Amino acid sequence: MKILFIGDVVGRPGRKLLLQELENLKNEYDVDFVNANLENASHGRGLTEKNLKQLLQTPIDSVTMGNHTFGQKEIETYIDNYPQLVRPVNYPKVVPGKGTTVIEKDGIKVGVINISGQIYMNEMDSPFLFIDESLDELKDCDIILVDHHAEATSEKLALGHYLDGKVSAVVGTHTHVQTADEKVLPGGTAYITDLGMTGPENSILGVEKEIIINKFLTRQPRRFEVELKKPWQFNGAVVDIDETTGKARSIERINRIYE
Ligand SMILES: [Fe+2]
Ligand SMILES: [Fe+2]
Repeated sequence: MKILFIGDVVGRPGRKLLLQELENLKNEYDVDFVNANLENASHGRGLTEKNLKQLLQTPIDSVTMGNHTFGQKEIETYIDNYPQLVRPVNYPKVVPGKGTTVIEKDGIKVGVINISGQIYMNEMDSPFLFIDESLDELKDCDIILVDHHAEATSEKLALGHYLDGKVSAVVGTHTHVQTADEKVLPGGTAYITDLGMTGPENSILGVEKEIIINKFLTRQPRRFEVELKKPWQFNGAVVDIDETTGKARSIERINRIYE
């Protein structure tokens, strides 16, 4: 089974790119299952139900989130209506939504875990205290996919190696900068520290660059606006998994620029 993971989709550029190109990419890479990180899909922060519905018209099978999950407050009212939508599992139990889900595709049970890092994300508890319980919940799955939404490369690598041989893939999100360290770990788990961002290329993590530069120069915060100008980039990775063993055969990084 081939899985396409899409790095943080930012604002209108990211959404438009998925609507225009995802079907083509799915065919080109012969993909069976698609996971997209949509924590920045609406105005760069969070996800409205309207945008989610629109993006679910594309071949997306599961959706992961991150520290911006609740950036659009309305998500609290609809998050439990979408079985394919997960937010970091290490939120307190009272928080709406769930951190794991199971999706059956072509007779294969795919488990998806979204988990947050803790380093530089101090409001979250350590992923290492939550991940075993999530694995337990998904023990009947043929394939387990983990989106580790985290800042620190050390924490991401540590969780990757901790999960090596226990899950099919551990992919990183959140930094919006793609790393070139994709590999299959010795135990058969596909790994990449960060998938990168699907959104405006000439921006700072998706935001208009002038706003961020000015913030560094003047210390005066201004409202973040998503850069709308092209070129736009599509970032992600395709992982090929042997569904009988759950082990990854390969991982291929994708970084496409659309003028
Ligand atoms: Fe993000
Ligand atoms: Fe994030």
